Amino acid sequence: MSIQLSPIIAGVMNWGVWDKNLNTREMNHLIHLFYENGITSFDHADIYGGYTTETAFGKAWANSKIAREKVQFISKCGIQYVAESRPENKIKHYDYSKEYIISSVENSLKNLQTDYLDVFLLHRPSPLMRANEIAEAVEKLKADGKILSFGVSNFTASQTALIQSKTEVSFNQIQFSATHHEAMLDGSLDYMELHKIQPMAWNPLGVAFRENTDQTFRLRQLLAKLVEKYGVGADIILLAWVKQHPANILPVAGTINVSRIQQLMKAQTLVLDTQDWFAIWAEPMGHRVP
Ligand SMILES: NC(=O)c1ccc[n+]([C@@H]2O[C@H](COP(=O)([O-])OP(=O)(O)OC[C@H]3O[C@@H](n4cnc5c(N)ncnc54)[C@H](OP(=O)(O)O)[C@@H]3O)[C@@H](O)[C@H]2O)c1
Repeated sequence: MSIQLSPIIAGVMNWGVWDKNLNTREMNHLIHLFYENGITSFDHADIYGGYTTETAFGKAWANSKIAREKVQFISKCGIQYVAESRPENKIKHYDYSKEYIISSVENSLKNLQTDYLDVFLLHRPSPLMRANEIAEAVEKLKADGKILSFGVSNFTASQTALIQSKTEVSFNQIQFSATHHEAMLDGSLDYMELHKIQPMAWNPLGVAFRENTDQTFRLRQLLAKLVEKYGVGADIILLAWVKQHPANILPVAGTINVSRIQQLMKAQTLVLDTQDWFAIWAEPMGHRVP
């Protein structure tokens, strides 16, 4: 089944105790703000907030009065994290057993207060994953109406092909930005385009505002000029840079800033001049385009 996600996705990773620690009222406000600005898809994972953020979001969602079919919920499973709620985990590891996948999705549904996930992703590849077993879990979850579509996250092309040989893979959520462009050079994005797998990009702004290095300093100087030229914020230019790649990438935006959220959809229509696109690529590399 093909699922239509919004052109920009709202990332929920930092809404809870891992960072912003928003209360139910604040999360409810944020859900409405994204929704009213055309951003209807929300990206979760079971582990966010040490397995607590889905529950916090679910309480806010239940109060939102927005019809379920108007939004899309994405969630992930597989990372067994060392957390208070999982004292049995002595070391971070991955679990992709059929039983664990199914129980993790059922937990996410309960926590998010919903009957189904629009998109269910395996969070990170595991050396011990077995494609047959994963496919059995996915097919059962689909047959039971608990997930509408399935994908992976942080998978290479060959890891994706392995899973795809047993069950349909519709999405791959990867790290991709002007400062992390490996996926467009190592064949990952080509593979997705070829196999009609929709890419999502996490951390789409990269380290542009997070790190102070020679490269990010020069990138920000370049962005300041482009802000003048295009009349939009530097974050919008970086999101448009991601969206301009032909693989039809959906950026997963992490901001919770009201004025930034109101501007996000401008990245959907902004088309950068080709030379500006290449200049943005070149700056973080610290050398000329090859
Ligand atoms: N699949 C995976 O393995 C994986 C891994 C990591 C994350 N994710 C997903 O990806 C989502 C987004 O990740 P991310 O938070 O790294 O995304 P991001 O959109 O690249 O970064 C968001 C951060 O940038 C800041 N920011 C935005 N515009 C700015 C500007 N103009 N100047 C300075 N700072 C600015 C935001 O602060 P303000 O809030 O103040 O705007 C926020 O702290 C997560 O929520 C999660 O859903 C997935």
